[in-house]
Amino acid sequence: MKSVLVLNGPNLNLLGTREPQIYGSATLADVEASLRQQAGHLGLSLACFQSNHEGAIVDRIHAARTEGVSFILINPGAFTHTSVAIRDAFAGVAIPFVEVHISNVHKREAFRHHSYLSDIAEAVMAGFGIQGYGLALQFIAAKLAGAPAK
Ligand code: DQA
Repeated sequence: MKSVLVLNGPNLNLLGTREPQIYGSATLADVEASLRQQAGHLGLSLACFQSNHEGAIVDRIHAARTEGVSFILINPGAFTHTSVAIRDAFAGVAIPFVEVHISNVHKREAFRHHSYLSDIAEAVMAGFGIQGYGLALQFIAAKLAGAPAK
């Protein structure tokens, strides 16, 4: 069974109470439970990890290679706009990944328009709300099943 790692960066542990007008009312536990259920239907094994610490996310990406993870789904939170270290970790392990943002970062402040990850991601989703996670997982499942590229 192919395995997928779901990573969430800083402040995403606050989903449900954090700026609900932007991020909605579902909690991270709700998002992860729904992804686990979907992964079951798609025949994928799924692990989830959230951290507010850049180095912990880098370490988790490195461990994913040792574990043989096939694909990563990441919402890097604010590290999207700041982290060369997370970019280098992805380049270093060469595990394909999808970048997901709950909000449409392009409709927000200018500092959210640049991502250190987008140009090396397989795909990027922004503005689909928490549905974006599920849509990204569907995309990943299709890619892993050998579906034609995007
Ligand atoms: C976010 C967008 C980022 O700009 C922000 O720092 C986040 C969440 C999103 O999911 O829309 O923490 O990644």
